[in-house]
Amino acid sequence: MNNSKESPSLRVPSAGATGTVALSWRGSSLELLDQRLLPAQERWITLESASGVAQCIQDMVVRGAPAIGISAAYGVALAARHAEGGDWQAEIKLAIRELSASRPTAVNLFWALQRMERVCDGCSSLSEAQKQLADEAVAIHEEDLAANLAMAEHAIEAMGLSAGAGTSVPISVLTHCNTGALATGGYGTALGVIRRLHENKLLKRVYADETRPWLQGSRLTAWELMRDGIPVTLNADGAAAAILATGEVRWIIVGADRITANGDVANKIGTYSLAVLARFHKVGFMVVAPSSTVDMALESGAEIPIEERDGSEVREIRGISLAPEGVPVFNPVFDVTPANLIDVIITEKGAVRNPDVQGMRDLFG
Ligand code: MRU
Repeated sequence: MNNSKESPSLRVPSAGATGTVALSWRGSSLELLDQRLLPAQERWITLESASGVAQCIQDMVVRGAPAIGISAAYGVALAARHAEGGDWQAEIKLAIRELSASRPTAVNLFWALQRMERVCDGCSSLSEAQKQLADEAVAIHEEDLAANLAMAEHAIEAMGLSAGAGTSVPISVLTHCNTGALATGGYGTALGVIRRLHENKLLKRVYADETRPWLQGSRLTAWELMRDGIPVTLNADGAAAAILATGEVRWIIVGADRITANGDVANKIGTYSLAVLARFHKVGFMVVAPSSTVDMALESGAEIPIEERDGSEVREIRGISLAPEGVPVFNPVFDVTPANLIDVIITEKGAVRNPDVQGMRDLFG
């Protein structure tokens, strides 16, 4: 990682209906908006190596399942640019191994890297690989944005809302973590659906869980939504039950890091408790994720590797201590929501209602 600077002018691909962008490919470098500093500072980091990209994924400069996959793909393209003439394929594969060790839970990372590796295997010269790998990374990025836009349409339909003027009463929803333009190729998954509800005048209000301990909800989601003028109310995670008890919220809408063959969903820690609350309060529970998040090779959520991060994320905030020094901490950053608590999974290929093995197989083979 090297020189950081204020916001560059952005390109490739466009961010859909929002001006917020997490990453920008420059042909010879990748620029990442440093999400650790938001909302206080908008600072961009320029990367010219795969190692730098791997470090940024691990440190959460860039985060969110699709954005991690896209960044890793650009990381492979950077590795190809810097490969020497000799065993260039071995050099690129070494970079792929390093990138794949950056975070364990979001399957989009491994999906993107496998796709890049297949392209690398099909190239017969380094110059061909440099071009093909850069093109493939841009394609992965563009496809993710297109998937987000398609998912927003499927989700509105699955909720039984119609976009025609005045035909459906605006609803309130609750979301967790950040699943917006910052977490994807642009627009967002769950937040893309919320964005589309707002565009269609179908959104009354979105409640955003702050999402302890990394605060993706307060630092990122609230920031993204306020930038776009979407009505958002921030709440402590523990307030979700009280909000649902008022009866105002119709749907809880979340993203995913990995969805297994039986419809179980790994997502940000706290998602599982929301699904339990939703069932108790008879509120719809929707998961929105591109098919690159689906892992049909795993039978159930019990097989998903759950990342545990350093206890300092819980013990302190920006170096300020919130707990006794040295207190042991359990900090799993994802949990698994069982399929039977989910009403519908939305992907760009369509919806799986009441997900189970058969429903998943019907859509994903
Ligand atoms: O640890 P993070 O911030 O990478 O976790 C992000 C989430 O859990 C998101 O809900 C998920 O990746 C979907 S993002 C479209």
